[in-house]
Amino acid sequence: MMRADVEYVKEIEKTRRDLRALLYANRCAPLMLRLAWHDAGTYDAISKTGGPNGSIRNQIELNHIANNGLKTAIDFCETIKNKHPKITYADLYQLAGVVAVEITGGPTVDFVPGRKDSLESPEEGRLPDAKQGPSHLREVFYRMGLSDKDIVALSGGHTLGKARVERSGFDGPWTNDPSKFDNSYFVELLKGDSKGLLKLPTDKALVEDSKFYKYVDLYAKDEDAFFRDYAESHKKLSELGFTQPSSQQSSKLSAKKKKVIVGRVVFTTIVAVVAISYLYNLINGRI
Ligand code: HEM
Repeated sequence: MMRADVEYVKEIEKTRRDLRALLYANRCAPLMLRLAWHDAGTYDAISKTGGPNGSIRNQIELNHIANNGLKTAIDFCETIKNKHPKITYADLYQLAGVVAVEITGGPTVDFVPGRKDSLESPEEGRLPDAKQGPSHLREVFYRMGLSDKDIVALSGGHTLGKARVERSGFDGPWTNDPSKFDNSYFVELLKGDSKGLLKLPTDKALVEDSKFYKYVDLYAKDEDAFFRDYAESHKKLSELGFTQPSSQQSSKLSAKKKKVIVGRVVFTTIVAVVAISYLYNLINGRI
């Protein structure tokens, strides 16, 4: 890793700590997870536009109906950005999503820094419409390059937080303990209409479609399986269209190369020692 990268990674760790404190003090982990998802979820794998690039801070994109209420999250992040100006918005928002899952008891999501910022916002309408069904969900998530498993695992993010009428027209939490990240979203989904708990048409779509249902059933029964798949899908979401900075890649590559070189040196040394001792014995008439 280059020196600049080392400094950046150090700054990321400080930012992570400040985010933990901010999310805890303001009880805003669910909102931050929604922010990270809405910045990333605009990705289009064909045109390679949208994605986790910080463009959600652009007023035009923030005004998209799907982003109602996220201004508060952007403003919270701005306080962290002021303290750590080197960190890109794109990294900051994704790190906030990762920290949100972590501090509410969810799995650890691997975070690789290095996303670049953009202020180019995609057209409105790339995020899913909560009033629709399975084919719409597939259309939106396949466009990002994600799978059925990703759709179900990521929907488990609704284990946190709640909908507000003034923001989305929907009302209430999905689970009885919306500040805890666990598999209860799936448990409640299988119970059907539970009193006081929310089920969006897109949530119900997950039990109506047999391919989705398979995962809902698994995650409701096996929280470890949910945590494992969720962490994997969340990482994918947070890295849509993102390739690791080349210096980090090249330092990994050179580590591999180093192993190969060391292996060759050891092998050559052994062959040489065997050959010399053979010659020595031959010269001395022992063979
Ligand atoms: C599958 C398609 C999805 C749809 C249609 C959808 C829709 C919604 C809606 C309508 C709300 C309520 C917003 C409000 O009234 O404030 C909401 C909230 C939320 N969503 Fe989603 N969502 C989806 C996927 C996801 C994903 C993939 C994640 C994260 C991995 C996520 C995380 C959240 C969280 C944490 C909240 C609560 C925010 C808060 O309490 O302020 N959602 N979502």
